[in-house]
Amino acid sequence: MCGIVGYTGDKQAAPILLAGLEKLEYRGYDSAGLAVRKGKSLPEIVKAKGRLIALKEKTNAGKAIHGNCGIGHTRWATHGEPSELNAHPHATEDREVVGVHNGIIENYQELREKLIKKGYSFYSDTDTEVAVKLVHYYYENYGQNPIDSLARAMTRIRGTYALAFMFKEYPEEIYVARQDNPMILGQGVGETFVASDVPALLPYTRQVYYIGNQEMARLHKGEITFYNIDQEVIEKELIEIKWDAEAAEKGGYEHFMMKEIYEQPRAVRDTVNAVLKNGRIDLSDAGLDEKTIRSIGRIYIVACGSAYHAGVAMQYVMEELARIPVRVELASEFRYRNPILEENSFVIIISQSGETADSLAALRLSKEQKIPTLAIVNVVGSTIAREADHVFYTLAGPEIAVATTKAYSAQLIAGNLLSIQFAYAKGKLDEKRYKELIEALQKLPEQIQKVLDDEKERIQWFASKYANAKDVFFIGRGIDYAVGMEGSLKLKEISYIHSEAYAAGELKHGTISLIEDGILVVSVLTQKELYEKMISNMVEVKCRGAYLVAVTMAGNYKVEDTVNFALYIPETEECFTPSLAVIPLQLLGYYVSVSKGLDVDKPRNLAKSVTVE
Ligand code: G6P
Repeated sequence: MCGIVGYTGDKQAAPILLAGLEKLEYRGYDSAGLAVRKGKSLPEIVKAKGRLIALKEKTNAGKAIHGNCGIGHTRWATHGEPSELNAHPHATEDREVVGVHNGIIENYQELREKLIKKGYSFYSDTDTEVAVKLVHYYYENYGQNPIDSLARAMTRIRGTYALAFMFKEYPEEIYVARQDNPMILGQGVGETFVASDVPALLPYTRQVYYIGNQEMARLHKGEITFYNIDQEVIEKELIEIKWDAEAAEKGGYEHFMMKEIYEQPRAVRDTVNAVLKNGRIDLSDAGLDEKTIRSIGRIYIVACGSAYHAGVAMQYVMEELARIPVRVELASEFRYRNPILEENSFVIIISQSGETADSLAALRLSKEQKIPTLAIVNVVGSTIAREADHVFYTLAGPEIAVATTKAYSAQLIAGNLLSIQFAYAKGKLDEKRYKELIEALQKLPEQIQKVLDDEKERIQWFASKYANAKDVFFIGRGIDYAVGMEGSLKLKEISYIHSEAYAAGELKHGTISLIEDGILVVSVLTQKELYEKMISNMVEVKCRGAYLVAVTMAGNYKVEDTVNFALYIPETEECFTPSLAVIPLQLLGYYVSVSKGLDVDKPRNLAKSVTVE
């Protein structure tokens, strides 16, 4: 969601800014812009609505804009429509102060009115223009000191932000400030960078600083100075990024999503192996010992989007194995419903990015109530990872496609590992069963690979036939319902087909009235005990005209008497089937999107990391 890139050094800035913005395209955006200055000259600002290619064409791939210091931005509209006028960077009329911003300034109306009274006028609908003019107000009235003016503005602004500014009297310098919005600073030799995420920096440097909340920094060529809100200089630790740059490239695949689907066996294997020591699960890296686990009486899992779906699956596994009551909640609901968290509760936040605004707020709310928190996070050093009491890292690696696949799969595995260990610590598993469950987890990577190998082509064929579907339903019972939720989201988010997931037993209470000739119904049925009940529900929709697809266990070939198209997954422990059943559903979403000629990796209106409410 919005992307910031900044550069100061000896090279021409614009091509570097454009290349960095390209690496952040996955975050989702609808317009883009650059501000670049050459020495002491005023910055040149160029903006364009739509994809980055428009900005590249306007600037001859950046070559037409001269200067060695600049900031760039991709905007995902919040205040004001996507347009060139509303695109960042924003500036004062005299271009004394120029800035870009990610996040939302909640009190922007009030600040705007105050500034109007001071003689300012506004050309855009954005909260960012308000921030720029507020900083300018302090800059002009309090001695033209960038850090002082940013600090004063920060005490007035309510909301979330990552800000990057340039000030006329400070050539070759960029000033940044942060509150609850991702931002990292890159240290090069004779050059420095700022970006919203690591991939934008990887071609230039692996040495980065994480800037904390309510902190600021001054970037000069090769030099970064950090300040706290009291404007005191503070020290930060330089961190080396260990990712392989190729991990954030397509590596021969047509889309990141397909590459990431194929990385799932590796993501699952790495996540399991990281906590297995001598054949046993060891959660000491997450700071979870048996005593802590035994004290847990109730678990709240809180997350958004696919991470929420991983949480729904985890609820079934945790309750089944560890017999600990679990409640799963959408972070955006949890944070505003004044939840009653009992003393022996434990809150688990699941988040790929570790930056999702609602999930972060849920984490903070739990901490305020003195409830211990565990974050299942993919991005090392992200805000949620830094603030949670315990962290379990999924090792999916950088995920670029907006629609998550490998991070979701790694979250499922994290949920399984925690459930097994919690069950063991609570005395619900004997040694033999403990080992069997771990062995089943270790087998999942090769089984995922098998589903990919066996079913990919059939799904591709099927997707091309059904790409024109208007409505699709995903049905399942128990943990299969959790998988259906994820399958439905995958399809709708990248193919723009209306799709819903329904608990199969609930269909009769209204939704079945929507079933008519040719409606696609995808049924997930992996649970022995619920198999016949599922078949009954499937027959009910079939006789009303539905076209039935089933995802079930290899061996259940009799399902073909009922369904039009069947997909099979290998045998595993019943509570681990989501890891396999989701694979055909991901492929279905992918191939329908490809058949429709859509932008698979960057679906309309969506953002990878949702840093606003
Ligand atoms: C966005 C992404 C989803 C993701 C959700 C939660 O909507 O498009 O793929 O599941 O945010 O993100 P998180 O980073 O917290 O897992």
